[in-house]
Amino acid sequence: MTISSSIKPVRKAVFPVAGLGTRFLPATKAIPKEMLPIIDRPLIQYAVDEAREAGIEQLIFVTGRGKTAIVEHFDTAFELEATMTGRGKSLTALEPSRIQPGNLVTVRQQVPLGLGHAIWCARAIIGNDPFAIFLPDELMIGTPGCMKQMVDAYNQVGGNFVSVLEVPRDEVSSYGVIAPGARPEGFDGTLTEVKGLVEKPKKEEAPSNLIVSGRYILQPEVIDILTTQEKGAGGEIQLTDAMAKLIGNQPFHAVTFGGKRYDCGSKTGFVEATLALALERPDMADEVRAVAKRLLGL
Ligand code: UTP
Repeated sequence: MTISSSIKPVRKAVFPVAGLGTRFLPATKAIPKEMLPIIDRPLIQYAVDEAREAGIEQLIFVTGRGKTAIVEHFDTAFELEATMTGRGKSLTALEPSRIQPGNLVTVRQQVPLGLGHAIWCARAIIGNDPFAIFLPDELMIGTPGCMKQMVDAYNQVGGNFVSVLEVPRDEVSSYGVIAPGARPEGFDGTLTEVKGLVEKPKKEEAPSNLIVSGRYILQPEVIDILTTQEKGAGGEIQLTDAMAKLIGNQPFHAVTFGGKRYDCGSKTGFVEATLALALERPDMADEVRAVAKRLLGL
């Protein structure tokens, strides 16, 4: 696809992984939430795979205390590889965890003051470039992947993007919610103009039931806004509040992802994702279906 010469390509992605993961305690006391595996890949791996598919080259991890396992995961495991090679074992399973030297950067968020603050902590690496954001506990499965779908739309219209999905009205107050505008032609109805954004609105005040779902493409100007952004909902520096200030000054669109989204930050969502992905895998689908039927008494 040709990219308009005035649109800077998205080559950088920020992965905010400095949260405390309190909903999964005690599992996440010593292991980062992002390292919890869905079958045989940690959550962070799915997000990195999705980023690579979308053409992202530089991965910026915003980490905090106790999160070093995430960086280790993408490092060369010399002893492991040497031992496996010595025993004649294939190293294919390690392939996805390899990163081009120099393409992984980490910055620390000393105190988890909120998602907006986590992104601001990456400002020196983001510089003056557009960048993607992935919340790895939101698992997006589809072909093309969610970020690829967003980047394809971005390459045509530029500006800022969030991915959105419809939820029942009763659930909107847990999320960032968009006020939708026009649907530009030529995108099969998957692209919506964003006229407003509000974090965790009361159900009766929510502008729609379209929630922001863990994937963003933002212009670097959002960093200037975050520099002076006050605390918002939950006493945290909210990315949604800073993004809302871009509306009207820069194009802002939402993409409705064509695939499935699993909220792996919640225990039920995590179990659902594990089961759904297992049922899609040729190497285990039959066995897992039989187990599920037995457990359900079917
Ligand atoms: P969550 O709201 O899911 O918070 O953050 P959490 O701490 O990870 O999990 P719980 O709610 O305590 O169980 C959404 C994303 O933003 C990151 C988290 O790591 C997660 O990827 N985050 C959040 C930060 O990096 N820093 C923060 O200050 C807050």
